[in-house]
Amino acid sequence: MAKLEGKVALITGAAVGLGEGISTAYAKYGAKLIMVDLSPTVEDTAERLRKEYGAEIITVVANVADRAQMDAAAAKGVEKFGEINVACCNAGVCRLAPFEEMTDEMRDFHIDVNIKGVWNTCKAVVPYMLKQGGGSIVIASSVTGDIVADAGEAAYATTKAALVGLTKCLAVEYAKRNIRVNCSQLGYARTPMVEKMAVESNPENPEAAINDIAANVPMGRLARPIEVGELFAFLGSDESSYLTGAQIVIDGGATLPETMSIGTN
Ligand SMILES: NC(=O)c1ccc[n+]([C@@H]2O[C@H](COP(=O)([O-])OP(=O)(O)OC[C@H]3O[C@@H](n4cnc5c(N)ncnc54)[C@H](O)[C@@H]3O)[C@@H](O)[C@H]2O)c1
Repeated sequence: MAKLEGKVALITGAAVGLGEGISTAYAKYGAKLIMVDLSPTVEDTAERLRKEYGAEIITVVANVADRAQMDAAAAKGVEKFGEINVACCNAGVCRLAPFEEMTDEMRDFHIDVNIKGVWNTCKAVVPYMLKQGGGSIVIASSVTGDIVADAGEAAYATTKAALVGLTKCLAVEYAKRNIRVNCSQLGYARTPMVEKMAVESNPENPEAAINDIAANVPMGRLARPIEVGELFAFLGSDESSYLTGAQIVIDGGATLPETMSIGTN
């Protein structure tokens, strides 16, 4: 039996990038999916997964920053599938700007989507998980904020570090009620978000910015979205039944080197 068979998973930011990778892994392992995204193209991604894996999927166009929309998305999923066993809180945004030029609107945009969006998703699914007797929540944090940061990421880093706090508190709060809560701390994967960051960093030659990221990763490359999907599938499945409150770094070794010049490599 595939490791997510019989599970219903709600995945936010599911249209492209990591959300697409997570949805692909969940479909491959037999989960039923509630794919949520701001973009209606989420339906195209779902259609591909239905064809490729025969997955049962509904899509919901919703803004994670809007609590009522997330409550409605979860309710729609439960109406269709009867329960929600896993929530992958993946939707997030990143805009770069020097701190002195970063507007309060930019700050609030990150807080609304990255923090309140995850908060709203948890709020929407937890009542169902409590009623069912358990569940698993997987939160997309980042190495950015909690471990490292690049210039221009003040708003993004602030919000991603906050998600580690939310992960730990919810993990403790719901441990006895069988809801596990863990977060991923990804380095860089090649997604539309990172392609946009590359343009903001080096408008003349964005590909050079991507190549520079890879050059500073010991494994010599960025993550593929499906590799992050595999981690989310593990954390959503019963294979990770004793893991809660964990922050799992998945970065090809990017945060390991003390220097890039000393040593025998
Ligand atoms: N790509 C990376 O290298 C990287 C690294 C660390 C962490 N992350 C995190 O992983 C998550 C996914 O990143 P990505 O690179 O796939 O991003 P992306 O921008 O490529 O895709 C994000 C998806 O989320 C959707 N979305 C954005 N705002 C939304 C909202 N308010 N409501 C609903 N859906 C919304 C978008 O429409 C899109 O489909 C983010 O939380 C990001 O911070 C990414």
